[in-house]
Amino acid sequence: MSLVVENVSYEYNDNGIRVKALDNVNYEFESGKFTAIAGHTGSGKSTLLRLLSGLDKSEGEITINGIPVTSKEGKSAVRMVFQYPEYQLFEATVLKDVMFGPKNLGLKNEEAEQEARKALLSVGFDEENFLKSPFGLSGGQKRLAAIAGILAMNPEVILLDEPTIGLDPAHAERVMKLFKDLQENQGKTVIMVSHSMDEIAEYADRMFVLKGGQIIGDGTPAEMFNDAGLLSNTSLDLPETLKALKKVSEKGYKPDLSKIRKKDCFEEILRVLKEAN
Ligand SMILES: Nc1ncnc2c1ncn2[C@@H]1O[C@H](COP(=O)(O)OP(=O)(O)O)[C@@H](O)[C@H]1O
Ligand SMILES: [Mg+2]
Repeated sequence: MSLVVENVSYEYNDNGIRVKALDNVNYEFESGKFTAIAGHTGSGKSTLLRLLSGLDKSEGEITINGIPVTSKEGKSAVRMVFQYPEYQLFEATVLKDVMFGPKNLGLKNEEAEQEARKALLSVGFDEENFLKSPFGLSGGQKRLAAIAGILAMNPEVILLDEPTIGLDPAHAERVMKLFKDLQENQGKTVIMVSHSMDEIAEYADRMFVLKGGQIIGDGTPAEMFNDAGLLSNTSLDLPETLKALKKVSEKGYKPDLSKIRKKDCFEEILRVLKEAN
């Protein structure tokens, strides 16, 4: 998979006033990796994600495997999980809803049902509820059903715009672990916009930071969160794990500040404490 953004700029026309949302963005996404996009409200994150999904045209070029994302094949290789995807549920049953995408791609009823069942089970959706109306589900279940609808289409690239917003912590963790699993074990490329620096630290392999429609920093999450210049330029918050590591280092210990995944962070703190004794 190769997903490349070249010289992409985008302007909105807001009642005759031109609003520049993206300003000459260049980026090559790493295949099979989890990339996070950070930046303040209005920095252009959602605009970039929408352009990556091929739903809109821009100045410059975005290609997947050499073809424009706006082409039919491009659009089917890259799929977006919108903010509040549950609002897009509309069929009489959950199963039918999830079958809609694969049927649209030309799969026969039987194959579409097979893909839909597989996708629903993979998100942890209870088989008992497959024939329920999506409107009778809880918020978290609706979100899982909507995500299954995307997975059933088997895209190479999954775009996520704030995928856990409004979910309780248990559902949020389940959804994030699912996307991480798809990326780590099924070769999917995942691209996520998130306000949560904790989620980015925990799940992303790469990240970049947008400000005023431009990329102002790009690297691993550990590199970005340890880049004091970048942070003062964006006032992004630090993940809780890095805050903890910094507290420990203020006490005179010397933890490795790149250990920002929860498990690594705990181990690192234990290690430096043990070494000191
Ligand atoms: N439909 C729209 N009409 C006019 N301006 C818009 C529209 N959507 C977004 N913008 C503007 O474009 C810029 C980038 O917005 P957006 O991509 O939504 O940022 P983010 O997702 O980072 O909050 C902002 O200045 C925003 O006000
Ligand atoms: Mg947004």
